[in-house]
Amino acid sequence: MTTDAQSRPTEMKVCVVGASGKTGKYIVQHALDRGYEVVGVCREQSVPKLDEFAGRITVVPGATDDREVIEQAVAGCDGVITVLVPRGVLGYSRQTAQAVLDLAPPGARLIFSSGWHISLDGQDVYSRRLRFKVVVLGRIAKLLRAVDLDDQVEACRRVFASDTRWTVVRGSELEEGESEGLPVWSRHVGDAILKSNMTRRVDFALFMVAALENHELIHEAPAIVGRRTPAAVAAAAAAAAAASA
Ligand SMILES: NC(=O)c1ccc[n+]([C@@H]2O[C@H](COP(=O)([O-])OP(=O)(O)OC[C@H]3O[C@@H](n4cnc5c(N)ncnc54)[C@H](OP(=O)(O)O)[C@@H]3O)[C@@H](O)[C@H]2O)c1
Repeated sequence: MTTDAQSRPTEMKVCVVGASGKTGKYIVQHALDRGYEVVGVCREQSVPKLDEFAGRITVVPGATDDREVIEQAVAGCDGVITVLVPRGVLGYSRQTAQAVLDLAPPGARLIFSSGWHISLDGQDVYSRRLRFKVVVLGRIAKLLRAVDLDDQVEACRRVFASDTRWTVVRGSELEEGESEGLPVWSRHVGDAILKSNMTRRVDFALFMVAALENHELIHEAPAIVGRRTPAAVAAAAAAAAAASA
């Protein structure tokens, strides 16, 4: 790896952990669009989902919580983007995060995905609807042994406590559709700019890839929202009016 005057690697090598999911595939595409070398990790049975990238990325098949798989995949990487999914009730999320934290090269930029329910400093203000979703639907999903939101909370706690160069990107509700550009963000859920609570999934992925080279986001947990949502547009207009007053 060589470095230019702005300390940007001229050839960034990026690992995408969870590359075969809906979000992961968008991340891979954005990383390729930027000219990065890409290594994708996904479960063995999901490798065919990455056929559209054949010949353009390296695929390391295996469970993302398997330390040997992660060790092989992150070797030599300048950045690692982890789609942190709380699947099952066996600590998949926390073990995936721990493997990345322990095994990524020192100094690598580490980006993790989560939802708004994760809080860095406890200062987020949640709507009743979101609290209902997390508490009631979260409990049902855990009882069904399908999803364990507490596992994702623990995974992020470990990320926040680490001395790596991390960013946890907290997604709003997601929708499919054409890109609207880089989402806007705020430190706390409850801030007016986030009120519309909707982001295009392709732009959630874009934000994570852009975060690799945005050093202002190190040790931040940005809560993001689509830049064209009504509340984001209103916040931008209010900021412009205040600046010209
Ligand atoms: N969905 C939302 O509305 C939403 C909102 C805000 C934030 N987020 C965040 O966005 C990220 C992506 O979430 P998503 O739900 O939208 O997922 P997604 O992008 O569709 O990806 C799902 C991931 O889960 C993996 N997976 C599926 N079944 C699994 C299993 N049994 N064992 C292990 N891995 C399994 C998939 O791998 P395979 O390809 O191998 O199946 C894939 O990597 C998460 O960090 C989530 O917290 C989501």
